[in-house]
Amino acid sequence: MHRLEEIWLGLSAGVLVLFMVIVGYQAFALGMGPPSHKETIDPQKVDQTEPFDKPGVYETGENEYEVVMTLQAFGFTPNDIEVPAGAEVTFTMTSKDVSHGFQVAGTNINAMVMPGHIQEITHTFEEPGNYLVLCNEYCGSGHQLMSTEITVK
Ligand code: CUA
Repeated sequence: MHRLEEIWLGLSAGVLVLFMVIVGYQAFALGMGPPSHKETIDPQKVDQTEPFDKPGVYETGENEYEVVMTLQAFGFTPNDIEVPAGAEVTFTMTSKDVSHGFQVAGTNINAMVMPGHIQEITHTFEEPGNYLVLCNEYCGSGHQLMSTEITVK
């Protein structure tokens, strides 16, 4: 084999190994693997499965809230969410039928909520106000009606 060929082959193999080491280190040592498919739920039994058997807004700690929410055609449960400004709010969500979206206008919250999976997002609403919540995944004939509001006081 030509000397230069050997050098280039060696270099490309080296780059591959280097990338594998970097990705492996991030995924396993730093725990940066993709979080999807972590928590699952039987989509037929959402109403009987904790915590979704009792959707609502719960105070979970000092200035910490959890919103347990189900999404279904074509609404959000609960749909009268009120949290204090500056509180850390964790949304725990799942869908009871098809894939829905959870987008909160004026924030960077934008998630897909799929049947069979539990979606979790934490956000702190610094500014009081009414935040519009929209479903941004096409989910059927009533998709454009699927919205609610979060009141931050
Ligand atoms: Cu739910 Cu679109």
